[in-house]
Amino acid sequence: MRFHIHFWVPCSCIERARMALKNDPYFLLSAFQPLNMNPEEYDVIFIGYPIWWYTLPMVLYTFFDTYDLAEKTIVPFNTHAGSGDGGTYNEIADFEPDAAVLDGLALSGSSVGADSAQQIDTWLSGLHLR
Ligand SMILES: Cc1cc2nc3c(=O)[nH]c(=O)nc-3n(C[C@H](O)[C@H](O)[C@H](O)COP(=O)(O)O)c2cc1C
Repeated sequence: MRFHIHFWVPCSCIERARMALKNDPYFLLSAFQPLNMNPEEYDVIFIGYPIWWYTLPMVLYTFFDTYDLAEKTIVPFNTHAGSGDGGTYNEIADFEPDAAVLDGLALSGSSVGADSAQQIDTWLSGLHLR
């Protein structure tokens, strides 16, 4: 199994807030570094993100527009400050109707601590990935 971990948030929190407020997908796309890998080459794709304005960060709309993830297994996970997953797991399933979207994990950013490792392990085990 190959793993590729890519962090797609190279700018500061203040910049992120400004970009989210601007709410312009093209602006967001141009603000983020392009991926240096092709997700279409992977079978299982973990997609992690914070909830912004009750939903996915705009750049992920661009991501789902850019790549065809049909027949892939998508594993969403997110942090939030009260919104849970904000319905984003269902939204991802709508964007990628031919992918298998597994149960996600929503973690409250302010509650993440040492005991979160157990919660994450339990979630990962429950996915039954090989
Ligand atoms: C622009 C912006 C909008 C946000 N909107 C929401 C929101 O609608 N719901 C929510 O639960 N958290 C929201 N958050 C909080 C982030 O989800 C949270 O900061 C992130 O999950 C990381 O957690 P941490 O800041 O504790 O590290 C927002 C954060 C930012 C910067």
